[in-house]
Amino acid sequence: MKNYMNLELLAISENESFARSAVAAFALTLNPSLSELSDIKTAVSEAVTNCIVHAYKSNKNPENKILLSCQTHEVDGVGELHIQVSDYGCGIENVSEAMQPFFTTLSPSERAGMGFTIMQAFSSEFLVESEKGKGTTVKMIKRISEGGKSEENA
Ligand SMILES: Nc1ncnc2c1ncn2[C@@H]1O[C@H](COP(=O)(O)OP(=O)(O)OP(=O)(O)O)[C@@H](O)[C@H]1O
Ligand SMILES: [Mg+2]
Repeated sequence: MKNYMNLELLAISENESFARSAVAAFALTLNPSLSELSDIKTAVSEAVTNCIVHAYKSNKNPENKILLSCQTHEVDGVGELHIQVSDYGCGIENVSEAMQPFFTTLSPSERAGMGFTIMQAFSSEFLVESEKGKGTTVKMIKRISEGGKSEENA
């Protein structure tokens, strides 16, 4: 591991843009391209939004917190950003069903059911761990490609 950052945030919508900007700023030491940075921001935004709109939706727990944990690594000369977003909310009964494109437990007029699909598409590796009533953790790894960088900066 080269560097790490741990953030604890209240699960309120005001913190969604802060969380995505904080992770993007942290990722800058890996020298990502603009498109990689945009992928990271979008994925974090979807993960944090899920904590806010799903995890604590019907929860009386006053401690509605999100733990955001990031690390930079270098694996075989390739920079990696590891992101973990955890909540202690309602959890997900069936994770593989929840990960299907267009699956949503809220009204389809409200939500598209595309959050997990977007996170997966924008990450190099993606994993969801959840326990009903205990909470959910989303783990993402974004590899930062040297090729993409030089192309974009050319
Ligand atoms: N952190 C979480 N806690 C509890 N349930 C969750 C959590 N994240 C996702 N879910 C469940 O998984 C479903 C799918 O999530 P996904 O992000 O793919 O779609 P969505 O949030 O419903 O819609 P969209 O993200 O497009 O607005 C959600 O509808 C919800 O039931
Ligand atoms: Mg979502």
